[in-house]
Amino acid sequence: MRLLLRQCFACVLVLTQLVLGALCWGKDGHYTVCKIAEGYFEEETIAAVKKLLPESSQGGGDLATFCSWPDEIKHFSQWQWTSSLHYVNTPDYRCNYQYCRDCHDSHMQKDWCVTGAIFNYTRQLMSSSVNSQTLVQYNLTEDLMFLSHYMGDVHQPLHTGFSGDRGGNTVIVHWYNSKTNLHHVWDNMIIESALQTYYNSSLPVMIQSLQAKLTNGWSNDVSSWESCQFNQTACPDQYASESIGLACKYAYRNATPGTTLGDEYFLSRLPIVEKRLAQGGIRLAAILNRIFSANTKLAGA
Ligand code: ADE
Ligand code: ZN
Ligand code: ZN
Repeated sequence: MRLLLRQCFACVLVLTQLVLGALCWGKDGHYTVCKIAEGYFEEETIAAVKKLLPESSQGGGDLATFCSWPDEIKHFSQWQWTSSLHYVNTPDYRCNYQYCRDCHDSHMQKDWCVTGAIFNYTRQLMSSSVNSQTLVQYNLTEDLMFLSHYMGDVHQPLHTGFSGDRGGNTVIVHWYNSKTNLHHVWDNMIIESALQTYYNSSLPVMIQSLQAKLTNGWSNDVSSWESCQFNQTACPDQYASESIGLACKYAYRNATPGTTLGDEYFLSRLPIVEKRLAQGGIRLAAILNRIFSANTKLAGA
């Protein structure tokens, strides 16, 4: 009886994973973005993040372990209002992004998309540094976890995809021998294959390799990744514009429905995935550093 119960539980777990599992950079992608960000936190940011994280992590202060939380909750009815905040789509075959045209949910409610969410959570965290009343008004712990997660999502090229195929979710392809969809390839499969092929199936080893590329390979680009036009704290419109550009140039190209994607696609797209994970991390750190340094500047004034 016990065994039967356990098998049943295992079945439910597997089924839940199959049904719920697929919709954003997978857990590994989000963990990577946030781990890279942590390495670029200034002192005030380390302290503020540690204060805001849920109790269980006190002492650890590890933002990365909370970065998939918005994916874990979005299917529960009380959190369903967050489900359109993970992406922004363009009209079919449009390889450019415009906030006013594209940032809405399926009922055309304005601002309900990933770029709107990044503006919103940045503003809420920022206003907590100006006015301590907002500490009561907003749940800053949730704000931090949402902002960190959506910064990852907006860097996944197909989170700014075409609305007709739901960012590649309805484009059925084979990834080597497995039947899947194009969105899942970009959320999970490219990272999974890279882990197996190059990193001994170890996520920390992959993260170390990205950190090394940040200090050697991409080092000249990093300061340009951080900066936002007009001195804004965050510039999600820029990140989404880059994403749809990459979606058109790399994700959708040579990946029509029914295609089998193998070595050629994997080897040419992996550098894009690696760069987007690194950019997401660098920019998340830059935004949090701007927010929390504003905080201490005001406190000292
Ligand atoms: N649902 C609809 N469009 C989506 C997208 N671009 N990414 C993830 N989920 C989606
Ligand atoms: Zn997401
Ligand atoms: Zn996704």
